Amino acid sequence: MRTKIVAGNWKMNKTQTETVTLLNDIILNYNKNSATKLIVAPPFVNLSKAVEICNNTNIIVAAQNMHQAEGGAFTGEISANMLVNIGINYVILGHSERRMYFKENDALLANKVDTALKHNMMVIFCFGEELKDRLENNHFNIIEYQLRDALFHLDKNQWKNIILAYEPVWAIGTGETATPEQAQEVHHFVRNLIDQVYGFETSDNVSILYGGSVKPDNAKQIFSKQDVDGGLIGGASLNANEFLSIANSI
Ligand code: 13P
Repeated sequence: MRTKIVAGNWKMNKTQTETVTLLNDIILNYNKNSATKLIVAPPFVNLSKAVEICNNTNIIVAAQNMHQAEGGAFTGEISANMLVNIGINYVILGHSERRMYFKENDALLANKVDTALKHNMMVIFCFGEELKDRLENNHFNIIEYQLRDALFHLDKNQWKNIILAYEPVWAIGTGETATPEQAQEVHHFVRNLIDQVYGFETSDNVSILYGGSVKPDNAKQIFSKQDVDGGLIGGASLNANEFLSIANSI
């Protein structure tokens, strides 16, 4: 059975004070008996506080990024060791905003993945095509290379620490969601690809989340698809009611 996951990527939103309010709201209202894994990813400066607040809950706190080096002269960066030391064992890597604004490419991401896995972290690895790729019907190609170049050097065992998140760039923050059929089509393609390289056991066990304008009113339809194992939520994760309504849609 694949793990169902709903993760909130808060991006550069919420002060520490607001983080406390939002997390307390989520903790007060979330379904403690649900089998769905709930993850929140606040900005770096609020991670320690978030870990403290989520202690003794089932809610997992993740980082939105990390540097690939173990340490050293990298002004402004955060290492895997620093994250693990404050109780963070999940990290989002490869988000399209990191690729776009911070020029992260597949080779760099392969390095980051290796470092995270070396520290036994779980990686939520994002991939997805831009609008032009989809219009040119080149999206399967793009996605295949994003995955091959950043993840397919891993051995089978390491895939236990990988969660995938398909986030078509044209659907992020635009209000334009991929249709449930479009999401299913890509998720199925990706699972097949993993099957070809690693075999059924690995492909059947990897959770593939969909991200891009998931809201309470479209989550159920998207999550109903066979190869969609949950969502990576941006805007709607900044509000406890919306986030939990999405989490309850699985
Ligand atoms: P939105 O849900 O705001 O479209 O963002 C999706 C996303 O980028 C999550 O990582």
